[in-house]
Amino acid sequence: MDIRDAFISQYGETGVIKVISAPGRINMIGEHTDYNDGFVLPAAIDKYVTLVGALRNDRLVKIYSQDLDDYTQFSLDMIKPDNEHPWVNYLAGVIYLFLTRGYVLRGMSLAFTGNIPIGTGLSSSAALEVATAYLLKSLHEIEISPIEIIKLCQRAENDFVGVKCGIMDQYISCLGRGGQALLIDCRTLEAKPVPLLNHQVGLVIANTKVKHNLVESGYNQRKQECEEAVKLLSELIGERKRALRDVTIEEFAMYGHRLPELIGRRAKHVINENQRVLTGMTALTQGKFIEFGKLMIESHQSLRNLYQVSCSELDLMVDLACQVRGVYGSRMTGGGFGGCTVSLVQTEQVTEFVKFVGDGYVQRTGIKPEFYICSVVDGAELAN
Ligand code: GLA
Repeated sequence: MDIRDAFISQYGETGVIKVISAPGRINMIGEHTDYNDGFVLPAAIDKYVTLVGALRNDRLVKIYSQDLDDYTQFSLDMIKPDNEHPWVNYLAGVIYLFLTRGYVLRGMSLAFTGNIPIGTGLSSSAALEVATAYLLKSLHEIEISPIEIIKLCQRAENDFVGVKCGIMDQYISCLGRGGQALLIDCRTLEAKPVPLLNHQVGLVIANTKVKHNLVESGYNQRKQECEEAVKLLSELIGERKRALRDVTIEEFAMYGHRLPELIGRRAKHVINENQRVLTGMTALTQGKFIEFGKLMIESHQSLRNLYQVSCSELDLMVDLACQVRGVYGSRMTGGGFGGCTVSLVQTEQVTEFVKFVGDGYVQRTGIKPEFYICSVVDGAELAN
C-alpha cells in the first residue's frame, strides 16, 4: 500500500498532509574519519525513507512504521528512549532536540516506510532522522538551516540512540547532489561536489546480508581508541592535537611506533585514510578510475587489518569483486561489522559482476546476497 494510503487508513482523514523523503548513502572512501574531524567522500543514493505527517490538536505524537507494521505513541511532554520500539528513537530523538532548542511543536500523526535495507551500512537511520527534521520544519514552518538540521540529527543519534556517530550520514542525506559525491571536511563542514560517474562506469552495492548493529558493535569503542590516540600522540609530539586529523603522516612515522600496538593501528588507519580521500578526490575529478579503485582497495585492507571493522563476508565480497574484469575497486562502505560493499565497475561488466560475485558468495557462505545498482541523487534539502 502507498504510504499516504497507509497513513489515511491508520489515522483517517486529517488536516494538511506533508510527505518528505530522505535518501540513504554510500561512502566512496573515508571510513571512520568523520568523528576524527577528517574527510569523507559519500554520495546519496536512490533509496529512501519516506515520512508522512499531519499536525494534531493535542500534544501526542503517534507513529506508525509501515514496514514493521508497528505502532507507538508518546507525549511531547515526556519523551525518553523507548527500548520496546527501538525504531522510534530515531524520530523521537530529533523531536526531543527540536524542543530542547526552543522550537514550539504541536502533536503529530506520522507514518513512514523505506527501501533502504536496515542495518546494512547504507544509513537508514540517518535518513529517518533527516526526514523527521524536514517534516518538523515543513509542518511547523520552522526556519532552520540544513547545517543546523544535520548537527541536530547527529546529536539525536549520539544522545538518544547511543551511537556516537560522526556527521557524514546526516550531512549527505541532507545535502547530497545528483550525480556527484561530496568531499566533506568534517571539521569545517564545508563540502565540495566531485563528479562521480560517467556513462561507462557504474556503482554496484553488494549486501552481504550480515547485519550490523552499531549500538552494540565496537563503533563507540573505536571512537574512544581514537581519542586515546590523540591524547598520546599530543604528548609524544609535544604539541596539542585536537583530533587525528591534525597528525601528519610524517609525524606518525616518527612517533606512531611508541603508541600501544592497538591504538597505533587505529591511528594509522585514520591518518592514512584521510590522505586517501584527498588523493582520491583528485583522481575522481580527473576521471582516473584506475587510481581511485586502487585507493578503495587500500582503504578496505586498512579497515580490515588496522581498524578491524570488516568481517569475513565483507572480505569475501571484496575479493570476489576484484576478480571480475572491469572492476576498478571495491570496499566495505559505512560503519562495518557486516553490511554492504560498494564497487566501481565498468557499465558493460555489471551483469557479469552480479553473476560472478553472487554465485561465488552463495557457494562459499550459503547466503544469497542482494545487489543494488544505484544512481546518485539529491539529498532531502534539494529533493523536497
Ligand atoms: C557510520 C556512522 C558515520 C561514520 C561511518 C564510518 O555510518 O554513522 O558517522 O563514522 O559509520 O565511516
